Amino acid sequence: MTTPIHISGFQLWKTRLDAAGQASMVEALREVAEAAPFFHPETRWGRKMSVRMTSAGRVGWVSDRRGYRYEPRHPVTGAPWPQIPDCVLAVWREVADWPDDPDCCLINYYSEGAKMGMHRDADEGAAGFAAPVVSISLGDPAVFRIGGLERGGTTQKVTLESGDVMVMGGPARLAYHGVDKVLFGGSTLLPKGGRINVTLRVVRSV
Ligand code: SIN
Ligand code: FE2
Repeated sequence: MTTPIHISGFQLWKTRLDAAGQASMVEALREVAEAAPFFHPETRWGRKMSVRMTSAGRVGWVSDRRGYRYEPRHPVTGAPWPQIPDCVLAVWREVADWPDDPDCCLINYYSEGAKMGMHRDADEGAAGFAAPVVSISLGDPAVFRIGGLERGGTTQKVTLESGDVMVMGGPARLAYHGVDKVLFGGSTLLPKGGRINVTLRVVRSV
């Protein structure tokens, strides 16, 4: 484990998943996306996000003009979300140091040019904030940025590569973070290129 970021509760395991583990996780996520297709969420202000998303688990994260929240059903198909794949749960159980399994496995897909603005993961309810966020990166590398608890403070950058697993717990749990850019074509894991990020969270707001 390495900790290039100096905020307490931030942990990064480089290449926690080997090539075979990455490939089988992509296959498991492909099956999730067959049942729960990727969609382009809109922000509260009606702008399409550049990242496409879907979820697995008890609840999924959605965004539209009504705002950011968790829902028990897919916003387009109306179906309950598929189960979180076992290989994903296995990573959580190894690194989260938390007694419960996550309620939401959010899957983000970054195609060429996609990025994510600075934000906090703050829709899980106070009891959900006690648990860490675990994030798994697959495919092309990303320049990830993390700050502190206030918007606009100093930030640090770290490159997240395929197979890396990041944990944001303790003081890092509510830190501002985002993805500046994806180094498109930097990995051969995904046939069409791009990056998948999986985030696991305990949700107590729904
Ligand atoms: C997120 O903050 O939801 C995604 C972070 C990432 O893609 O690494
Ligand atoms: Fe986030």
